[in-house]
Amino acid sequence: MVSKVTVKAPSSTANLGPGFDVFGLAIDAFYDTITLTKIKSGIKIITDDNIPTNPEKNTAGLVVKNMKKKFKIKDGIEIKIKKGIPAGYGMGSSAASAAATAVAFDKLFGLKLNGNSLVEFAGSGEKASAGTVHYDNVAASVLGGFVIVKTNPLDVIRIEPPTNLRMCIAVPTINVPKKKTKVSRGVIPKKIKLSDSILNLSNAAAIVAGFMKKDPEIIGNSIKDVIVEPARQHMIPGFAKVKENAIKAGALGVTISGAGPSVIAFSKSSANLKKISLAMAKGFAFTNTKCQTVICKPSKGAANKRK
Ligand code: HSE
Repeated sequence: MVSKVTVKAPSSTANLGPGFDVFGLAIDAFYDTITLTKIKSGIKIITDDNIPTNPEKNTAGLVVKNMKKKFKIKDGIEIKIKKGIPAGYGMGSSAASAAATAVAFDKLFGLKLNGNSLVEFAGSGEKASAGTVHYDNVAASVLGGFVIVKTNPLDVIRIEPPTNLRMCIAVPTINVPKKKTKVSRGVIPKKIKLSDSILNLSNAAAIVAGFMKKDPEIIGNSIKDVIVEPARQHMIPGFAKVKENAIKAGALGVTISGAGPSVIAFSKSSANLKKISLAMAKGFAFTNTKCQTVICKPSKGAANKRK
């Protein structure tokens, strides 16, 4: 019987432009690592990072609580959390901790849950930080690659991304509101024009086709969102300039990563990725904003499973 399991989960980008709350992509920029150890009783969180250690307020804590209850597990669990993903920047940080925890719990107790169940438990934990459940980041972080999230009932479709797909991410050094995801969801219009919905739908469909055909050009050229991005971009200083610069430097498509404020440019391995990253940093510098830039690839998921 194992008494201790360690699982690493990748960062992820949600939405990919028009796929709000539906698309997710696991990316190898950053990772969170979770170690679950059986103890006598209770749920105990150990971390050196600046995150809540009350299990009710911690994404990993909530996942353990929900899974313990569901599978009537009496053992106590110690959760050791090592954050590698910057929290609050649209890189799926809370989702990764939740994803790694669900996968580790499954291994620790030999549950052999399928992908959808792991995603569902991970999502139940992410509620702690996002306020609402949405599965785009957790699905990518659990399963890896590109994911399409269908809900009611939850069913995640995973597609292996093209091997030459690359992303340049700029994470701006700005203060983010405490409940950032909630705040940035609050600015999205409740009603949208039919013509906007058609534009987003056509681009979302093309993105799926791009992943199926393993074609970064189709993916990148379809990263266009006329609904959520225009409503949120004021929350990112210099966004328009960052986007313009990245496109001029050769990026195929640029958008907000998840709920932001990170900006993500899609490209392919043959492009000048350093030039794109530098152009994005210069765009942020326009508003005196510093940023960290990362060039990355799609990642495998915490479960490292194929659906
Ligand atoms: N789809 C979500 C959003 C991802 O954009 O609000 C953020 O967690």
